[in-house]
Amino acid sequence: MNFPAEPFRIKVVEPLKATTREERVRLLEEAGCNLFKVPADSIYVDLLTDSGTSAMSDRQWAALMMGDESYAGSRNFYHFEAAVRDLTGYRYIIPTHQGRMAENLLFQTVVKPGDAVPNNIHFDTTRANAEQAGALPLDLVVPEGLDPSDRSPFKGNMDTAKLDRVLTDRKGHVPIVMLTITNNSGGGQPVSMANARATAEVCRRHGVPLFFDACRFAENAWFIQQREEGMANTSVADIARGMFGLGDGCTMSAKKDGLVNIGGFLALNDETWSDQVKQRLILVEGFPTYGGLAGRDLEAIAQGLREVVDENYLAFRIGQVRELAEAVSDAGVPIVQPPGGHAVYLDAKSIAPHIPPHEFPGQAIVVALYRDYGIRGVEIGSFMFGSEDPATGVLIAPPLELVRLAIPRRVYTKAQLAYVARSVIEVYRKRDALRGFRITKGAPFLRHFTASLEEIPVGATAGHGV
Ligand code: F0G
Repeated sequence: MNFPAEPFRIKVVEPLKATTREERVRLLEEAGCNLFKVPADSIYVDLLTDSGTSAMSDRQWAALMMGDESYAGSRNFYHFEAAVRDLTGYRYIIPTHQGRMAENLLFQTVVKPGDAVPNNIHFDTTRANAEQAGALPLDLVVPEGLDPSDRSPFKGNMDTAKLDRVLTDRKGHVPIVMLTITNNSGGGQPVSMANARATAEVCRRHGVPLFFDACRFAENAWFIQQREEGMANTSVADIARGMFGLGDGCTMSAKKDGLVNIGGFLALNDETWSDQVKQRLILVEGFPTYGGLAGRDLEAIAQGLREVVDENYLAFRIGQVRELAEAVSDAGVPIVQPPGGHAVYLDAKSIAPHIPPHEFPGQAIVVALYRDYGIRGVEIGSFMFGSEDPATGVLIAPPLELVRLAIPRRVYTKAQLAYVARSVIEVYRKRDALRGFRITKGAPFLRHFTASLEEIPVGATAGHGV
């Protein structure tokens, strides 16, 4: 065994239902080949997301029983606030029901139409929320972050020279800069402390606040401890604190490194922004001491934030992801290297070069993994992020065509992930049989959640595919 064993034992189990290939073919047809629309009960290993899918600890379940459901001033809020403040150091802590609401509240408060918001790479909800508020989202990750085979240790880093240019050229029209740790849409790659410091320095020079998209802050801090010079002897908790200390606030989906099934927060230092956010919060989420959550949820987050920086847990967690990555990569399957913190990303462009981006090579792999093996992954490529050129109708493809196999925290066993590895390898060996897809029904925003697709018959073409 080449990774640390589970630093926990299993106290509660959830039975999984077996399905046949015929059933899965039918379910795919009913779902328009969109795995978001397949009932989760008919999935064996669900790697759609690591978000909200964690197994909570006995202490977190116990925390739920300590819920104080007072409308205002719940004691759980104060515990939650103390836990977040201890970690981030930020002054104002605003609970939300999940991460995207923190983004929405922040952008609706700070963005003016015509602004731009730079990020290393925006996650899809972050991008959509920035656009909804009238901002242009700019992705400024370092070039190696877009090369799946480059093995640099911190491929989530911001290109600070580019950032400097953007802040110069768009002076007065960039309300905040964001840094996503780890960089989900670029393969779950970490940002180094040195890069965060350099980014903060550029921001400070231009007088622009820096916000972290902190969903996976503990995994990012673990990579810093393991990979960055001079950091090996600093605890993950202190590394995380040091990173937050470079910024002015953060958005957080506690559904990832909060180790809970629902919840999030916005934390920030600016009092005026905080007051404005709280006004809007009352309108759309609830009173500022519960922000769309139950008191018990806040207590579970407070506990989760303490557990997630446990280095035995992180060694196991990141090790489990790495082992899956190595198993498939050793068999020749092209993946984003080095593997990220929460997921293995298959490089769909290299696996299925015969399927052009506008026929969604990643979706072909996603469908094959479910149809033949009952495994659910998610396409992160032209289906998720592609858009149509309004003039020509031609697809504007994102730089990468990926399939993400996200590993829920503390949920699947080594045998289940070995099954995933074997299945991915089999799909790879039969890759010439993969066929492209075309969209039969779309949606204007976040289309990958709702659109329907069909497999393109042999010999036909997709047109422009959008
Ligand atoms: N930012 C990043 C980097 C994310 O990965 C996510 C969610 C969000 C913000 C939004 O948080 O879901 O709580 O509203 N990512 C999930 C995923 C959905 O599957 O990667 P949320």
